[in-house]
Amino acid sequence: MENQEQRPAGCIVLVPCPFQGHINPMLNLGSILHSKGFSITIAHAKFNSPDPANHPDFTFLPIQDGLSNIKASSLNFISIIRAINDNIELHLPQNLSRMVTDSDQTLCIIYDALMYKAESVAKHLKIPSIIFETSTASLSLVYAQLPGLAADGFIPITESVANDMVPGLQPLRFKDLPIFNFPGYDDLFQLITSTTDIRSSSAIIWNTTECLEQASISKIHEHFQQVSCFAIGPFHKIIPSPSSSLLKENSHCITWLDKQEEKSVIYVSIGSVASMEGGELIEIAWGLANSQQPFLWVIRPGSVCNEEWISQLPENLKEAVSKERGYVVEWAPQREVLAHAAVGAFWSHCGWNSTIESISEGVPLICRPCFGDQRLNARYVSIVWRLGITLEDDKLERKEVEQAVRRLMVDEECEELRQRAKDMKKQIELCIGSNGTSHKSLNDLVAFLVSL
Ligand code: UDX
Repeated sequence: MENQEQRPAGCIVLVPCPFQGHINPMLNLGSILHSKGFSITIAHAKFNSPDPANHPDFTFLPIQDGLSNIKASSLNFISIIRAINDNIELHLPQNLSRMVTDSDQTLCIIYDALMYKAESVAKHLKIPSIIFETSTASLSLVYAQLPGLAADGFIPITESVANDMVPGLQPLRFKDLPIFNFPGYDDLFQLITSTTDIRSSSAIIWNTTECLEQASISKIHEHFQQVSCFAIGPFHKIIPSPSSSLLKENSHCITWLDKQEEKSVIYVSIGSVASMEGGELIEIAWGLANSQQPFLWVIRPGSVCNEEWISQLPENLKEAVSKERGYVVEWAPQREVLAHAAVGAFWSHCGWNSTIESISEGVPLICRPCFGDQRLNARYVSIVWRLGITLEDDKLERKEVEQAVRRLMVDEECEELRQRAKDMKKQIELCIGSNGTSHKSLNDLVAFLVSL
C-alpha cells in the first residue's frame, strides 16, 4: 500500500448505513482512501456490525443504535434508519470530540446519504462532511426531482400513469421510481427528502462511472453546482478489498464452478434484503430445472416468505443438484463468482452493487427487480445499456423463467448481449485505468480531501 510508513494524509471517519448493500461499498471506499494514505475510522451501528478482524487497517468505533428500545413489531427499514440517525446525533459527537481535539490533521466525515444526521454532527464539531450515495447518479437525479413531481400532483403515483414516461427523466416510467407501490410511501418520501437536503456538506461521492452514466453525471454537476461531485466507481475494481459479508460465504461453490464449462452457469441471487413468495421460488426452480442449464443459486435465510416452500422444491431440481448440474448455497462470495469464467449470466434483483459487479465482469443480466432503486437499475440494464432483459410480470411462470435463461445462455440473442457486456467491461477498465474518468475523479477527490 502507498504511504504506509508515512504520516497519514488525513483522518477520515466513515459512517456506513448498516445493511450489506451499503456496508460493502463504504468499506471498499475506506480501502481505496487508505491506499491513498488516509487513516480510516468506521463509526458504525452495533446492529449488523462489520467484523473488525477482517479489516486490520481500519479503526472501528461502535455507536449505540437504540434498536433494542424499539418494539419488534414496529421495526422496519424506515424505523431502523430513523432510530440509528437519532443515535448518531446523540452519541457520535462525544465519540469524535477526542479525535477532533487530538488531531492536528485534516479530519473529515464521509457518511452514507441514509445516515443524514452525521451531517449535523460534522457541523456541530466544525469539521467538513461529504455524502456518499451508494446507488447511481440517475437515482440522485430522481430524488432531486421528486419534490417537483409531488408539487405537480404525480405523487402518490397512480396505476393510470405507471407506464408513462416521467417528464425529464426518460427512459424512466413512473413505475420505475422507488416510490411506486411502496407501502407508506409518505414515510419514504420524507426520508428521501432528508437524505437529499445536502445542507452544509461539501461534496458527494458515487460508486459509478462515466461510461455508464455520462448523461446523468453531467446533469448532476449542473444540479449540485455548489458542491463537488466525484464519480469514482466501480470501487471494487479499483483496489482489492477484504470481504465485508455479514453472512458466511460458502466458497465451495467456487470449486464447483471450476468444474463447469466456460460461460455455462446461470448465477441466481436476490441480494441481502429482497425476498420472494414461495410460489415464485417454485416457478424459478422449475424454470431453472427445465432450462437444462447449470445454475448456482443463492437462497439466503429469510429470502423466501413462508420457508416451508423450500421443502417443496421440485424433484427435478433436487435431481439437478444431486447430478451436480446445480449448486445451492445460503451466501456466496459474489464478486468472485461473477469474475469466474464459468458464469454466463446473472439472475439478479438489480441492487446497485450486484448490477455494477456484474457489468464490470462483462456478465449479462436477467433482471427481476423488487423495490427501491432496483426497478430503475433494471430499466437502465435493459433499455439504456442493453446488457440484459427484465422480467416485469407480477406473477412469474416457469415457462417464462426457462425462456429467459435460454435467451441469455443459448439462443442467438445471447451472443449479441455477451458482446455488448464484453465491450462495457472494457470501457469500465478504461474508466478506472490511468487516463480514465474514475481515476481522474479519484485523484481530484484525494486532492480535495487534502485541501480541507
Ligand atoms: C440494497 C438495495 O436493495 C439496493 O438496491 C441498493 O442499491 C443497496 O442496498 P441489496 O439488496 O443487498 O442492497 O443488493 P446489492 O446492492 O446488490 O448488494 C448486495 C451485496 O451483497 C453485493 O455487494 C453482493 O456482492 C453481496 N452478496 C450478495 C454476496 O456477497 N453474496 C451473496 O450471496 C449475495
